[in-house]
Amino acid sequence: MKKKVAPKRASRKRARVLKDARGTYLPRVNQTQSQYGTFADSKHAPIHRWFQYPAGFSYRAVEHVLEEYNIKPGSVVFDPFAGTATTLVVCKSRGIESYGTEAHPFVYEVASVKSFWNYDFDKLDALANQLALEIRFKLAEAKCVDLALVPELVRKCFSDANLQKLLFIRAEILKLDEPYRQFFLIALTCALRKASAAATGWPYIAPKKRIQEKDGVEVFGKQVFQMISDLKSIPSQFRQSPCHLILGDARHSGLPNEIIDLSFTSPPYLNNYDYADRTRLETYFNGFASSWGEITDKVRTQLIISATTQINRNQYSVEDIFSDKVKAIDSELARELQTKVTRLSHLRMEHGGKKSYDIMVGQYFNDVTLALEDNFRVLKPGAKSVWILGDSAPYGVHIPTEEILGRIALGIGFRTFTIQQLRTRGDKWKGNTQRHHLALKESILTLTK
Ligand SMILES: C[S@@+](CC[C@H](N)C(=O)[O-])C[C@H]1O[C@@H](n2cnc3c(N)ncnc32)[C@H](O)[C@@H]1O
Repeated sequence: MKKKVAPKRASRKRARVLKDARGTYLPRVNQTQSQYGTFADSKHAPIHRWFQYPAGFSYRAVEHVLEEYNIKPGSVVFDPFAGTATTLVVCKSRGIESYGTEAHPFVYEVASVKSFWNYDFDKLDALANQLALEIRFKLAEAKCVDLALVPELVRKCFSDANLQKLLFIRAEILKLDEPYRQFFLIALTCALRKASAAATGWPYIAPKKRIQEKDGVEVFGKQVFQMISDLKSIPSQFRQSPCHLILGDARHSGLPNEIIDLSFTSPPYLNNYDYADRTRLETYFNGFASSWGEITDKVRTQLIISATTQINRNQYSVEDIFSDKVKAIDSELARELQTKVTRLSHLRMEHGGKKSYDIMVGQYFNDVTLALEDNFRVLKPGAKSVWILGDSAPYGVHIPTEEILGRIALGIGFRTFTIQQLRTRGDKWKGNTQRHHLALKESILTLTK
């Protein structure tokens, strides 16, 4: 007997039009695309794999979007929150010109090395061999570094002997000229977590949780070998594809008006992820900063607000948090959001941690509005701007980030937006009774200028 098949629920498949008819919810993506907001496939792909950036997204997502909008050599792509250059690397490997702004100095360094491919390979090989020889023959007699001068977090991640090796390698690398110095320095920094004796799984480094330490020399050697072979596998015609990475601010990119054919990005999510804190091991090891205060000055203050650790409450008026710009763009939305912010201010007093989620939410939208406005300015008329985003629920107050940014974008001048859900998030906190039970998601917001 033929099995009866239940008719598919048409309503679940249909696109849902939002309050403003220029905003539409599209049906969910398929299983493969559901991981587009994660670094899962980039972890194993040449070049992308050099640094395991948990905030990074899928290189396949970039490929998909380039194909969907028929972006070919001759077009120009922009990623305002470039991170470790996933977008730029994919564009470069297809001969497509790209721009990116990244405000975190260490992440910018990683992105610069990943997106520069024009080395003299004979020289690169010779320097790799020379470093191997220096390490082999000089390490044993090298003068030890006074480890008391090394930030505590770095000391806690390695045995003294292994740390001395890593510092010796760094000292040898610092003798090289650019761009080779930067190449090997990033190779060493990217290898740190692989050698560590402390659990360094993202997001937190847990010095008390000890794991099997790996020899720093060996891990560095493998990293260098992988990076050089990845570079050599790139077809020579793409080695010089134009790629412009700027250590700068997505809110004020400084790019000329209307030069961009497609923007593809993922901004920080409103999820209290402190990018400066999460990259402390690398930042301290490189001597870029040596204390919490220093990374606040040099990193936290450069980034858009997305974590409570970036906030100094005295600088904000929580009763009237939204900028004149946000209010002018959509006064009704600003009022709705202000109500949520006020609710978070009250909830804050009921929680032990007294987290400044109220200000975090308000200032996040002030900041991202500036980035959206800049994005609108640099796009050519008719061009698409594609954002991978997550919603959030601090203290259980749901903030539908993708819909809010869609509405702000319309106020800025974008003609339409669509939202398509990629996956649900936050399942790993399921057992945590302290946490809300709202289902969070990751979505793609597509804007049309
Ligand atoms: C979600 S991550 C993007 C990751 C990127 N898609 C990748 O694959 O590596 C967001 C990035 O925005 C950066 N960022 C934060 N504030 C910024 C700002 N004002 N301007 C530019 N970049 C900023 C963060 O440092 C972080 O690297």
